[in-house]
Amino acid sequence: MDRKTFLKAVSVLFANAGMVSAFATNLNIEKDAAIKISEGPYLLSMDGDKVCVVFMTNKRAVASVAVSSQDDKNFSKSKVFFDSSPTGRKHIGTLHTIWLGNLAAGKSYSYKIEIKEVLEYWETYKGAKYGATKFGEILECDAYPKNLKPLKFRMPDSKESEISFIVVNDIHQSPKTAQNLLNLQNLTSADFILLNGDMLNTYQNESIIFNGFMRAVSDAAYGNIPIFYARGNHECRGKYAEAFLDYFPTQNGKTYYTFVRGDTFFLVIDVGEDKPDNSGECGGITDFDSFQREESEWLKAVVESREFKDAKHRIVFSHIPPFESASDAYNRAIGKRFREVLDEANLDLMICAHWHKRFIVRANEKFPKSKIDITTKYPIVINGNKDALKVEIGDDSSIRFAFVNEKGESTEWLDLNNLR
Ligand SMILES: [Fe+2]
Repeated sequence: MDRKTFLKAVSVLFANAGMVSAFATNLNIEKDAAIKISEGPYLLSMDGDKVCVVFMTNKRAVASVAVSSQDDKNFSKSKVFFDSSPTGRKHIGTLHTIWLGNLAAGKSYSYKIEIKEVLEYWETYKGAKYGATKFGEILECDAYPKNLKPLKFRMPDSKESEISFIVVNDIHQSPKTAQNLLNLQNLTSADFILLNGDMLNTYQNESIIFNGFMRAVSDAAYGNIPIFYARGNHECRGKYAEAFLDYFPTQNGKTYYTFVRGDTFFLVIDVGEDKPDNSGECGGITDFDSFQREESEWLKAVVESREFKDAKHRIVFSHIPPFESASDAYNRAIGKRFREVLDEANLDLMICAHWHKRFIVRANEKFPKSKIDITTKYPIVINGNKDALKVEIGDDSSIRFAFVNEKGESTEWLDLNNLR
């Protein structure tokens, strides 16, 4: 195993362990440049009392985030969170993922990133005394690098039932589309952005993740608006597919997870590839059969939980609708593992992508893209590849949505009650 392969293998081990620092970071160092934040920061997977701050630096560095708050007396003096690994060592690299914790519901926080370029540490240069590290420049950053807006966020409050969010999907490495869809006036009021898969054609390398869509998304969210990511089938492809969670960590270390806003419970489902493991296209390097089996057990436990049952609303995101689109063994298994569980889960709504055209399927209406007669007990909204889906949940229990195109033109608001 060469050094690069070893680093990659280590990265995946750590990524699978949950909330840990990333290692799948490229080692291309801009030797003569001043240190800077080259991508991000973006806020990921905000739920409960935690959020992850992710960014990249152009040179290998150690990093930390200092968090302070005027609302939360526990943070009246700033607290520092390090980019550390479970081994107890600070991560030295270019991709930094820092989990902030013990944050209070409904409180606002400011944050400041500090990065220290690591030139050498004592093991790497002869004659250095034990513990000695050569740091280069130190950079402090309390504003989003592109627009200099202050870095801040507000934690969700379980007592607030009014929620709004934006969904984009199937961007397929067209950053201009992501930029057009997210640079809308109404984004500033969004509680979160959800990326519903197929943001790239393939996870080929690190630069395409950012050039293809994530820089556009991050610039729209400017380190203030939280982001969630539901993986699509195209995120399952390419050399960097394995390192997906390094760049987009979740609280449970899985690509399927849950989160709560107000009295709405959100479920993110991931069926993986749209083709069976034994297909020629998957090429013998996928094991989504085991993946789905494990996810299905997790899903059964989630829908039986008190938190899920007691929520006023239950909304599912899934890039591909998680049920049979044909009658072959692979599709039948998906139906058993997901549809049969979700049909008994009293869902309000499922939001999907994948078909590149927007359409709506009412409860108990045949799903038009399925070759067999499939209906669900809940409505499904499929967002297109050239639309942002805006969803608003009101404190009167209403759920409404609209599609907004790249020019910012919106459809009429549609009331979910008319689809049930
Ligand atoms: Fe897709």
